[in-house]
Amino acid sequence: MNQNELKKALSKLPLGDVRYFESIGSTNNEALAWATGGARDLSLVIADEQTAGRGRLDRKWFTPKGTALAISLILRPTDGEKSHLSRIVGLAALAVADSLRTRGLVSQIKWPNDVLLNGRKVAGILVESVWSGDEVDGLVIGIGMNVLKEAVPSAELLFFPATSLEESLGPHVEREKVLHDILAGLIALRPHLGSDSFIASWEKALAFRGEQVQPEQDGSLITGKLIGLESDGSLRLVDEAGKSITVRFGDVRLRPGK
Ligand code: ATP
Ligand code: BTN
Repeated sequence: MNQNELKKALSKLPLGDVRYFESIGSTNNEALAWATGGARDLSLVIADEQTAGRGRLDRKWFTPKGTALAISLILRPTDGEKSHLSRIVGLAALAVADSLRTRGLVSQIKWPNDVLLNGRKVAGILVESVWSGDEVDGLVIGIGMNVLKEAVPSAELLFFPATSLEESLGPHVEREKVLHDILAGLIALRPHLGSDSFIASWEKALAFRGEQVQPEQDGSLITGKLIGLESDGSLRLVDEAGKSITVRFGDVRLRPGK
């Protein structure tokens, strides 16, 4: 990643401080430590390679050098945002989806934390928090996006198929510009986090809406039709008997139904 290009691309955004690494274990680990040490709102960690990138529940996230976006954005949540913490993953997912729409691509959000292009995972999101007593003091929004084809792990490492921006747009995708658009989108959407229209946009972008799905939660399979979201961002399904089922955040892996 070209650091000068990066500086130029991000110069108009109201970011806090920016830390860039050619290689790092995990940008989220760096950002969590930085947030604990007092980083300002909208401080950003960027890496050209991660050697220990993490997904949810410590699953591995691969970020080979020079091929992907791996960032962690620190938020100091306002009191209003603190009452909508479970929506933050949606904020990041919508910002990623908007950055793709700008490039003429229609993506879907695989609830809760992945963005799909042509039914394949192009980006993943990991939101983590820093606590001060029983109050959230900082949020770390980690976003990984496969930009070039080489970012996509081989099939045997995956439980869900993956793709890259390059597969849809060709090789001339500028990572710095995509990063700018994701951040600008997130910053613009942030004031709307608590609104009903925010949930409506998130719902509209969901993969498998109106279709049968089989989320696996804590090892057991639930079957139902995906209807939408609750106000806290939980997933709403309806079973064959018409009974409403709420799938809460946690160890959930969403899969299409049969
Ligand atoms: P899924 O529903 O995709 O199985 P999950 O919820 O179990 O997702 P996540 O925590 O969302 O898992 O994502 C981590 C998983 O993503 C890893 O287990 C790995 O299979 C996959 N993965 C790792 N790196 C990449 C990458 N660069 N692109 C796409 N998928 C990746
Ligand atoms: C997932 O799909 O489980 C989420 C993947 C999140 C990956 C990003 S890459 C930048 C940041 N640093 C990490 O270690 N993880 C997130």
